Amino acid sequence: MEVVPLRSGSEVAALAADVVEAVVRSAASPVLGLATGSTPLPTYRELVRRHEAGVGPSYDGVRCFNLDEYVGLPAGHPESYRATIARELTDALGIPADRVHGPDPTPEGLPTAGSRYEDALVAAGGVDVQVLGIGTDGHLAFNEPGSSLGSLTRLKTLTDETRHDNARFFGSIDEVPRHVLTQGLATILRARHLLLLATGSAKADALGAAVEGPLTASCPASVLQLHPHVTVLCDPGAAEGLVRREHYRAVYDAKPAWQGL
Ligand code: F6R
Repeated sequence: MEVVPLRSGSEVAALAADVVEAVVRSAASPVLGLATGSTPLPTYRELVRRHEAGVGPSYDGVRCFNLDEYVGLPAGHPESYRATIARELTDALGIPADRVHGPDPTPEGLPTAGSRYEDALVAAGGVDVQVLGIGTDGHLAFNEPGSSLGSLTRLKTLTDETRHDNARFFGSIDEVPRHVLTQGLATILRARHLLLLATGSAKADALGAAVEGPLTASCPASVLQLHPHVTVLCDPGAAEGLVRREHYRAVYDAKPAWQGL
């Protein structure tokens, strides 16, 4: 795992955008894995800014897979993750809606949504780079503490802590759905490169547990320790939870440029 403590959230966004763009430029048929929530938004805005300035890569042929989705929202609800990703990123990059996939939260689709999403990910050849955030309780995607480290895409129930955290996107906590569809931890581990973004001191404890704590289902993001290619980009607030943060920065500063991220 490579941990890169950066000086600000905007440095996180710029470097994360570099990583995503490098994949889009180099992969034959790029597949992006997209998280929602607040953390990736500055990265998505940076990608859109570069695209609109004419300095980004071509997104022709890029396919996207969303990490998770709320269950129980009316179709087209602005806080659904499908609508959020379209609004914040893919529409502006000119990626057509039929190339942006998400698990199917409709009542009729729900029973088979997990296995169909797994099949779609495999059929697409897997995810080249998966953007991830981390919950204050250590969740990864919507795999809450206690989730199996071998889990696949399935229906999950949000903790009260996560519903409280996400109430800012809704009118009140009562409007935050209880159920979600989420890629499992084993699903996420199949992506070729995992790019975890963490900003703000509210994430410090969870990031410390994920990176430096034991591998445990009690901190689902600790499963990242099993993956051969993980990049963690964090700002000073989130890095407060990392005992070895100065070492990580020294390693990054001394890194040969040819290694990339
Ligand atoms: C979003 C997701 C979640 C968020 C996490 C952090 O697709 O899967 O795991 O990444 O809840 O959310 P923010 O970034 O809003 O703090």
